[in-house]
Amino acid sequence: MSESTSPIERVLVTGGAGFIGSHTCDRLLGLGKTVLAVDDLSTGHRENLAGALESPDCTLVEADAADPAAMERVFDDFEPDAVVHLAALVSVPQGEAEPGRNFRLNVAATQVVADAARRGICRRIVFASSAAVYGNSEALPLREDGATDPISQYGAAKLMSEKLLRAYAISYGLAATCFRFFNVYGPRQDPRSPYSGVVSIFADRYRAGQPVTVNGDGGQSRDFIYVGDLARAVAAAATDPAQRGGVYNLCTGRATTLLDLIDILAAEYPEVPAPSFGPERAGDIRHSLGDPAAAREVLAVTNDTPFADGIRALLASL
Ligand code: NAD
Ligand code: UD1
Repeated sequence: MSESTSPIERVLVTGGAGFIGSHTCDRLLGLGKTVLAVDDLSTGHRENLAGALESPDCTLVEADAADPAAMERVFDDFEPDAVVHLAALVSVPQGEAEPGRNFRLNVAATQVVADAARRGICRRIVFASSAAVYGNSEALPLREDGATDPISQYGAAKLMSEKLLRAYAISYGLAATCFRFFNVYGPRQDPRSPYSGVVSIFADRYRAGQPVTVNGDGGQSRDFIYVGDLARAVAAAATDPAQRGGVYNLCTGRATTLLDLIDILAAEYPEVPAPSFGPERAGDIRHSLGDPAAAREVLAVTNDTPFADGIRALLASL
């Protein structure tokens, strides 16, 4: 059977016990795939996979994705047809504080995983890149063929990983898909870290009856994508043999301000006191918006969960 039509049945997911990883595992199981989640549980939680692990087709292995020997063992034992590489140092401020760790987890681990793939039968890799590769570009909406100019260790590492994977694709015939995730939100995103996304922080506070603090006037906007939509796209790229790789934004093309978010939450919890407004966060960008057209065309998936519906699904999960 030619490579382009070989069925993809076994999928390895690094970072599988994390926020996005656990939704990706759920989606892959829903497609009837056999899934191995690999996670060191540094920011992920076994409970995120509680539902998935009820299936005989899902297993969780605790291992370090940046450890070549460990990854070779995992690939040899499981023999995946595809790998989704999500394990990372996910916090931009932590990357600034620990550039060596950022490099190990956000660059070296990508090479380790890609190499374990090409040594075995796995010829397909999907990688979690980030809108951070665009830096402060104001050419909105951001398109994949526009300039990349990361301004953080994290963003630079994600861009380096994209380039490495492109070279792996050329040198060894891997199908490598790099998705530039925009601001992802939804159930299982941890609200308690100082680096948590604004949606999880605000949802958690409204639900607890506490007012939120807005950095600035609340007019700043982001392209918030619902994690279920994102996981559908990731799983499609990992399992559709017709997908040949490339670099794609995963976003909605819709700009949502913090004031829009607050309106939705205030309607659900009218008793919660009004927000307080503090100074702008240092280094904050005013608007971030992606162009979703390329991923829509190639993957035939839409990232269409209306923001209010996604927020209600998040609240229902808390
Ligand atoms: P998360 O922290 O929930 O998931 C990361 C997972 O990787 C965790 O389960 C963690 O335990 C695991 N991990 C970390 N280091 C590891 C290692 N060395 N070996 C094995 N496992 C390891 O965060 P998330 O939001 O689900 O992020 C998933 C991916 O998406 C990351 O690559 C992140 O950079 C990327 N991303 C996320 C967003 C977002 O808005 N959440 C935006 C852009 C990109
Ligand atoms: C994301 C990263 C950030 C990185 C930036 C640029 C996350 C969680 N943050 O930030 O580390 O520097 O991309 O690549 O991934 N806000 C409030 N009140 C709060 C929390 C946040 O007003 O309690 C505001 C922030 O100041 C910001 C907006 O909400 O204006 C969104 O913040 P956040 O969720 O951190 O996302 P990014 O700013 O996109």
